[in-house]
Amino acid sequence: MTISESTWTPSSWRSFPAGQQPEWPDPDALAAARDRLRALPPLVFAGEARALLAALGEVCEGRAFLLQAGDCVESFREISAPGIREKLKVLLQMSAVLTYGATLPVVRVGRIAGQFAKPRTSATEVVDGVELPSFRGHVVHSDAPTAEARVPDPERLIHGYYQAASTLNLLRAFTKGGFADLSLVHTWNREFVAGSPSGQRYEALAGEIGRALRFMQAIGIDLEREPTLHEVDVWTSHEGLLLDYEEPLTRTDSLTGEPYDCSAHMLWIGDRTRELDGAHVEFFSGIRNPIGVKLGPTATPEGVCALAERLNPDRVPGRLTLITRMGAEHVRDLLPPLLSAMRETEIPVVWACDPMHANLVRTPSGTKTRHFDSIMAEVQGFFASHREVGTWPGGVHIEFTGDDVTECLGGSTEVLEDQLDHRYETLCDPRLNGRQSLDLAFRVAELMRAV
Ligand code: PEP
Ligand code: CO
Repeated sequence: MTISESTWTPSSWRSFPAGQQPEWPDPDALAAARDRLRALPPLVFAGEARALLAALGEVCEGRAFLLQAGDCVESFREISAPGIREKLKVLLQMSAVLTYGATLPVVRVGRIAGQFAKPRTSATEVVDGVELPSFRGHVVHSDAPTAEARVPDPERLIHGYYQAASTLNLLRAFTKGGFADLSLVHTWNREFVAGSPSGQRYEALAGEIGRALRFMQAIGIDLEREPTLHEVDVWTSHEGLLLDYEEPLTRTDSLTGEPYDCSAHMLWIGDRTRELDGAHVEFFSGIRNPIGVKLGPTATPEGVCALAERLNPDRVPGRLTLITRMGAEHVRDLLPPLLSAMRETEIPVVWACDPMHANLVRTPSGTKTRHFDSIMAEVQGFFASHREVGTWPGGVHIEFTGDDVTECLGGSTEVLEDQLDHRYETLCDPRLNGRQSLDLAFRVAELMRAV
């Protein structure tokens, strides 16, 4: 038992410095919002978090692959069924490509149903020539470009809970209610994707899956009775940034007596809040969910080993996912020392590659974007580093949307710089569109086959 484990409570993080928390103007209103959250039902169950832990344990052992994907930040304005369905379609397509291409189970985790808060490098941002407090997500304030709109409002924590509940409800219906049936693999290809090279490749793959299913039926396997052909698990995750939201949703599991943060199945600590003696690490050390930590270029081998010791002292496979985001140019230098040092500790971890967050660039006109080639270069560097050290490249963590947006450059149906403003809709970072996401899945499946 670690020292903090004996003193840990859902609120013990309050004695530690907490980075990236909004400056809520009214502490009483914040306390009242916390009380209301505490009285609401859990969004997920501890048993589900344990099922995900077991699935991630398989990834840890090199027997499965993690696909974690979704919006940079979910919007309170977008909660329509089609929006969620289209995102799910792309996620299902990507996981079909990865499963079939690499013949390994894929653990699907959405950045969804709670990904509402953003850490920011700078406290202010300039919108149309006016300096404003930086946008921190709809669970904190409105994105409207006025100083009044940017004042944090704790009522939004409650709104966030209900939006997460509605999203999760729909996700459960889609994944368990027939939509994710493998016999519908063709229908996940959307029109704007179908004509692209990857869309056509996907059609061919869907045809092969269909043939495989008919073959199984022909030799007498009763496909109706195989639940895995008709339903899938899509787990939820978000950055556990706002501790005033996570604390009241932390509940004691009646079966084991252990604390679980029931706002999502998995939570992660962002690159800006992973200090060993900070509030986030304290809070995450006590919850029993599977958790992640983002590791950017400033992560050192000693620092990562110390974090892993603190967050996974019992060495539970699947408990800790280290999500590296080093940048295409630095991954080959910075990642192998971390992999080697961690291997020495024998603390089991899942290694996942976030090829998005360290490959952000601005166009001459100031638009934030990412180039598909840089994203792929970081993924390749990730696989090459694992091959060099002999560790398992366990997964990818990406930002995407199901829509035909033009936020990231490149891809097989190239998005060009002068097209970025056609459909640039993200509230925060640029996301891969449906075609680019499928392009990435095919390329990752090829890299996995070569491991
Ligand atoms: C994110 O995942 O959206 C994010 C802010 O990442 P990071 O903490 O790695 O910068
Ligand atoms: Co982001």
